[in-house]
Amino acid sequence: MASGVGIVLLVTALGVSAQTPQSPAPSSDSVARGAYLATHVAMCVQCHSPRNEKNDIIESLRFTGAAIPFRSPYRNTEWAPLAPNIRGLPGFTDEQIVALLTEGHTGDRPAPRRPMPPFRMAPDDARAIVAFLRTQ
Ligand code: HEC
Repeated sequence: MASGVGIVLLVTALGVSAQTPQSPAPSSDSVARGAYLATHVAMCVQCHSPRNEKNDIIESLRFTGAAIPFRSPYRNTEWAPLAPNIRGLPGFTDEQIVALLTEGHTGDRPAPRRPMPPFRMAPDDARAIVAFLRTQ
């Protein structure tokens, strides 16, 4: 019994150490697709970028985070006051962001509050967005 547990632990440890820490460099097609998705489809840029006094996004500060300028339209909704900096995705692994965009949360921390949408993207779309945001 005890040796059985030992084997399971050994196999698990080998499995983890055999994984590469980062996926291979994404293609430029994937980055371009991620740019399109993040700015025109999933609208990450709209919430995660600061704006000037005319309410236009400040291009040089795209994805660096912003205050959410409106309150929840629903009572008793957990509502976040800020959309964090996602330029380069600091502090996140690729896997965490793919989980966030395909399952709605990173897997190891609570789901973000609204108005962050609970995305259910296809994995390829999520990976393209990660590839693009890493270039920002
Ligand atoms: C409608 C506004 C809105 C949109 C659109 C939006 N976000 Fe967010 N996002 C937020 C807010 C607000 C938070 C902070 C949530 C909190 O503090 O609980 C957040 C949080 C996050 C986080 C941190 C998650 C965590 O677990 O800490 C990441 C990463 C993120 N967003 C990435 C994205 C990406 C990538 C997109 C586009 C695919 C996107 N967001 C689209 C508003 C938005």
